[in-house]
Amino acid sequence: MLNVLLIGSGGREHALAWKIAQSPMLGTLYAAPGNPGIAEHATLSQLDVSDHDAVISFCKDEAIDLVVVGPEAPLVAGLADALKAAGIAVFGPSAAAAQLEGSKGFTKDLCARENIPTGAYERFNNAPKAKAYARAKGAPIVIKADGLAAGKGVTVAMTMEEALAAIEDCFEGAFGDAGAEVVVEEFLHGEEASFFCLCDGKTALPFGTAQDHKRVGDGDTGPNTGGMGAYSPAPVMTQALIEQTMREIIEPTMRGMAAIGAPFTGVLYAGLMIDETGPKLIEYNVRFGDPECQVLMMRLKDDILLLLKAAAEGELAHVSARWKDDAALTVVMAAEGYPGTPKKGTPIAGLAAAEASGAKVFHAGTTLKDAQLLANGGRVLNVTAQGTDVTDAQAKAYQAVDAIDWPGGFCRRDIGWRAVEREAKN
Ligand code: AMP
Ligand code: GLY
Repeated sequence: MLNVLLIGSGGREHALAWKIAQSPMLGTLYAAPGNPGIAEHATLSQLDVSDHDAVISFCKDEAIDLVVVGPEAPLVAGLADALKAAGIAVFGPSAAAAQLEGSKGFTKDLCARENIPTGAYERFNNAPKAKAYARAKGAPIVIKADGLAAGKGVTVAMTMEEALAAIEDCFEGAFGDAGAEVVVEEFLHGEEASFFCLCDGKTALPFGTAQDHKRVGDGDTGPNTGGMGAYSPAPVMTQALIEQTMREIIEPTMRGMAAIGAPFTGVLYAGLMIDETGPKLIEYNVRFGDPECQVLMMRLKDDILLLLKAAAEGELAHVSARWKDDAALTVVMAAEGYPGTPKKGTPIAGLAAAEASGAKVFHAGTTLKDAQLLANGGRVLNVTAQGTDVTDAQAKAYQAVDAIDWPGGFCRRDIGWRAVEREAKN
């Protein structure tokens, strides 16, 4: 039996906890800090995860066999390195390997060395040179703060004015240290898709596809968010495209990371742009997507704990991952004000009614006060359903959404529209 510590507090971690709890290999599941949904499956701890010694002591006291890290920040801060040095198995990359998400420039340089298809780019440490390059290339063009900026450091500039303003914002400190360096990148055309692999340093195991909706409003309008909904599989990712992505993007990345002494372990999440020539890499993340993880966990047939353990122990070559034929779709319910300042503390009811028809409601930013569930963040609930195709999963997810009684929340009504249109044509 394995005792597991899960780090994180979002819908992604609730989905992981829900799936890990189904494993026959599980002893006790702990989560830090967790949320009220995760608490249904795990013992919560208020452990400070930025205090690596405290995490190590906790693991020793509770005889933890595997630590699973959900979000990127603790990985970039070296939590996996500290745990490994203390002899504790961990699912998640080293700080050196987490640079794939922590530094856009690092990833672009890897692409250049390994011939990985991606947009043309240059890295800059001052505004005048960045502006001169942007002017020479012309709009549309993409401006990216180098470091972690909570998903807000990217400007897809349709005009040169926007591009120049974004460059100024970065160097004037809008993203703190993350913007001290800027990547100016070619605008890529096509359809976006997310592709996931579990990695153990040597082997990359394809682990599903998804598409998400980043904009806050229906019709993909309004400001960017962490993601307002997602579905899996991504119809655009055919088997041929998956094989091309493995050959041209993922495998060279695994080789390139090993070559610089930073073999990649954990989830490699490739954001891809697909056009008629195939996939191009937009960016890497070193963790599961949120809310993409929720739809992957719904569709996974196999024991997630066995797979995470195999990845942590370098044994992925000996396992496989099988998926339900069903599609899964998740609708994010957010608190009014998101992605600006979300209103906290509004009461939420009706979750049992929402789940009565087979949907699953994952908690993200929720809290319990005197047994009343309250909103406590931007993205609050992930209402997730499976169906025979995306159209069916979408209908079931919105039926569940409509059973939730939360006047302080809102959601998009068109999650999955692209796949639904495609299914209507076929
Ligand atoms: P990122 O944080 O790198 O995922 O970028 C956020 C979003 O910006 C992506 O999901 C894309 O929609 C868009 N984006 C980033 N880079 C490009 C690019 N080179 N061309 C077109 N769109 C892009
Ligand atoms: N949903 C996008 C992300 O997790 O980065």
